[in-house]
Amino acid sequence: MQILKIMFALFLSIQTYYAHAQGACYNGPAKKTVFLTGAAGFIGSNFLKYMFDKYPEYQFIVLDALTYAGNLDNIPDYIKNSNRFEFIQGSVTNYRIVSSIMCRSNYVVHFAAESHVTRSIFDDSTFFETDVMGTQVMMRCLVDCGKSVERYIHISTSEVCGTAESQPMDEEHPIKPRSPYAAAKAGADRIVYAYWCTYDIPALIIRPFNNYGPRQHAEKMLPRFIIQAIKGKKLTIHGNGEQTRDWIYTLDLARALDKALHMREFSKIKNQVIHVGSGIATSVVDMARAVLKYFSMPDDYIEFITDRPGQVETHISSTEKAHDLLGWKSDVNLEQGIAETIEWYIEHRHWWERMETVAHIPVTTQNGTTVIH
Ligand SMILES: NC(=O)c1ccc[n+]([C@@H]2O[C@H](COP(=O)([O-])OP(=O)(O)OC[C@H]3O[C@@H](n4cnc5c(N)ncnc54)[C@H](O)[C@@H]3O)[C@@H](O)[C@H]2O)c1
Repeated sequence: MQILKIMFALFLSIQTYYAHAQGACYNGPAKKTVFLTGAAGFIGSNFLKYMFDKYPEYQFIVLDALTYAGNLDNIPDYIKNSNRFEFIQGSVTNYRIVSSIMCRSNYVVHFAAESHVTRSIFDDSTFFETDVMGTQVMMRCLVDCGKSVERYIHISTSEVCGTAESQPMDEEHPIKPRSPYAAAKAGADRIVYAYWCTYDIPALIIRPFNNYGPRQHAEKMLPRFIIQAIKGKKLTIHGNGEQTRDWIYTLDLARALDKALHMREFSKIKNQVIHVGSGIATSVVDMARAVLKYFSMPDDYIEFITDRPGQVETHISSTEKAHDLLGWKSDVNLEQGIAETIEWYIEHRHWWERMETVAHIPVTTQNGTTVIH
């Protein structure tokens, strides 16, 4: 009897595995091929996992150059081993590679970019190659592939707007990038705009505000704070820490992108720019305090270091357009999101220890001194 029970349980688990892998018993939208660039990075890998689990009929193709920021470990094994997943190592600047994927895709989300502000001050040229020229290649392929692509989302960033000139920052905010990263992303953002003015392409631009969550590179602010706290070190802040950002949990962004891809009336969002943020501004020093609070460490475990050149002072998103057009608003509150992120970093020490050597970058300030950020 016991053997029969075990065999039955085994049969059920094999059946569940195949249902998961093949998409059996699925009542969701028709089969689609989803092309994601840069999905071995932070936001793209979180979005891939969210979509892969939610849409068992869909095929996914990831193109990623696997730069220092890309990591195949960011993609779970059950996805990598699935026949619904294809990974291609290559650059978005390569027309031949991109067009061969684009022409067999229905949905495209372009995440790939050089993404770190501090690194863009240290080594700017790759930012313009990848973010600007890569986006031009993506656009060219979208035009050349004709009608195979139904929806194309360009991932821009709130950084293209620079410091808030009016608050909250809506989609009409002037484009005033303040760092080489932001300038490259602004170029990319305007390339997409120009292509939809020139060609009838099914594109829209999403401008996320500051994302945080699992698998964010150790070079970025919140992971840096968390890693410093795990090691019992002081949390280092550029400048006085009064700069504010609008923090958005990366799965909240995934939900917004999902809505944009699946919205019934695409004409409502086609060729629109949409800001995706929480509508709440939190200062950098308050983020550091939140991390210290989680670890029961005193507030004097904060050390202020020289400010980063090209710093954005104030960022806060308008949430109106995302709500009106996508029916989306952020779900995860900051305290809960920070706690989940910290727990992930505590459990994945081997993941971030490997990247620590590239997480600190020499930056030359306007008075000519070089500091490690
Ligand atoms: N992290 C944030 O807070 C934030 C906020 C707003 C917008 N964004 C934008 O979201 C996107 C993803 O950001 P992220 O934080 O996940 O970045 P990330 O640096 O973690 O990941 C970028 C990925 O792109 C890949 N890549 C780099 N150059 C490439 C190339 N030439 N061809 C193909 N792949 C290449 C990298 O290997 C990596 O996997 C970027 O466009 C970024 O500008 C990020």
